[in-house]
Amino acid sequence: MSNSASKPLWSGRFDTAIDDAMLRFSTSLPIDCRLWRHDISGSLAHVEMLGACGIIPAEDAAQIARGLEELQGEIERGELRFEGAPDEDIHSFIERNLTLKIGPVAGKLHTARSRNDQIALDVRLYLREAIRAVQTEIRATQTAFLEAADANFTAILPGYTHLQRAQPVLLAHHLLAYFWMLQRDFERLESAFGRVDVLPLGAAALAGTTFPIDRHRVAKTLGFARVSENSLDTVADRDHMIESVSALSLVALHLSRLGEELVLWSAPEFGFCRLDDRYSTGSSIMPQKRNPDSMEIVRGKAARVLGDFNALWTLVKGLPLTYNRDLQEDKEPLFDAFDTVLASLQIARGVIETTTFNHEKMKSVAGGGFATATDVADYLVRKGVPFREAHEITGAVVRVCEKSGRELWDLSLEEWKNLDARFDESVFEAVKVEGSVAGRNSYGGTSPTRVREQLELAKT
Ligand code: ARG
Repeated sequence: MSNSASKPLWSGRFDTAIDDAMLRFSTSLPIDCRLWRHDISGSLAHVEMLGACGIIPAEDAAQIARGLEELQGEIERGELRFEGAPDEDIHSFIERNLTLKIGPVAGKLHTARSRNDQIALDVRLYLREAIRAVQTEIRATQTAFLEAADANFTAILPGYTHLQRAQPVLLAHHLLAYFWMLQRDFERLESAFGRVDVLPLGAAALAGTTFPIDRHRVAKTLGFARVSENSLDTVADRDHMIESVSALSLVALHLSRLGEELVLWSAPEFGFCRLDDRYSTGSSIMPQKRNPDSMEIVRGKAARVLGDFNALWTLVKGLPLTYNRDLQEDKEPLFDAFDTVLASLQIARGVIETTTFNHEKMKSVAGGGFATATDVADYLVRKGVPFREAHEITGAVVRVCEKSGRELWDLSLEEWKNLDARFDESVFEAVKVEGSVAGRNSYGGTSPTRVREQLELAKT
């Protein structure tokens, strides 16, 4: 619909209507239309308060509320659509349609309110839901990790540092590492939620209003824990968005590390796991391929979420107080970050729920590459050898094995004794991967006893 046909709202002080290209450039409706429910519920709470405080007549308030509810129904049923609407944003869309429906009395809705506090309110209402939705998905993903850890409890794989085999660990221990990352992500979002859950409405354009509004009443209606303290800060503040997206960027970052590991582990060279058909794709040219696209895309999406964070941060940097129209650009990265992280979590969870782990393959490499060398050194330490000396002796053991192309368990007792007289029969137990894992019994370590404890704690 062309704008030139109708003069837009609030154009009283202008001679000519806005340029068509400028309207297209400046409209945020295609993005912020998804705030329509929040915009209407915010308006319903506001108009109820205006009526109750005697700022507008009770009959007008009731008529406006009925009109808003009707609009809500029409949008829900798809009778009223956003496409092609001439409006600058969701607020003007609702107001124009309300006016079409109930006439000039609709104009009383915007008493004691500005779009500056209105958009701040809409976003906070959105964020409360969006944060909860991501937290719910984080919990489900954590559960998937717990179940996978339980189901594969006896599996041992190499633990890595520098992507070099370091020490054998339980697969359950490795999976639970992601559980704790997600736990911190959950907590960060919870903390952000506390600062989101503050009513901004009533700050008006920037300085408050001359009308005797009751902000606490509106906060109560909308279920906000608190009311904001400073009207200037309220319309200028985007911290809550930035910190929420910052928390999301860490979720995405954690999932990207998981993505990388599953991509590596599912490569035939590792062969530690097999992603289910539902989360793999074939190649259009190479029939043998089985690509872990699901986790590659999850890994890639993290770049996008960091971009969203960066966009928001940069948008606000250096802006003078209070509201500036630049801030309209906040919604796209905000929505994108939430949509992307929610979808990434859903995919990662599906992958964890359906991936099968190849216990034999993992174990066959877990002890190889002298992964139990630290256990040999610890063995000597228990016989009274200072750790540094034990480290030297073990280094010599590794050198002998390496030169002769053997693993630690291939050495004969005689060879052990030649390397150091303090070795005896029991060294064969110490170099086994099960013994190595079971021995790491310190709190938070990888022994089955500790990991079982950890699993039980995680479940609570
Ligand atoms: N569409 C605007 C935004 O998203 C709403 C606030 C507009 N305020 C204004 N004074 N133009 O930020």
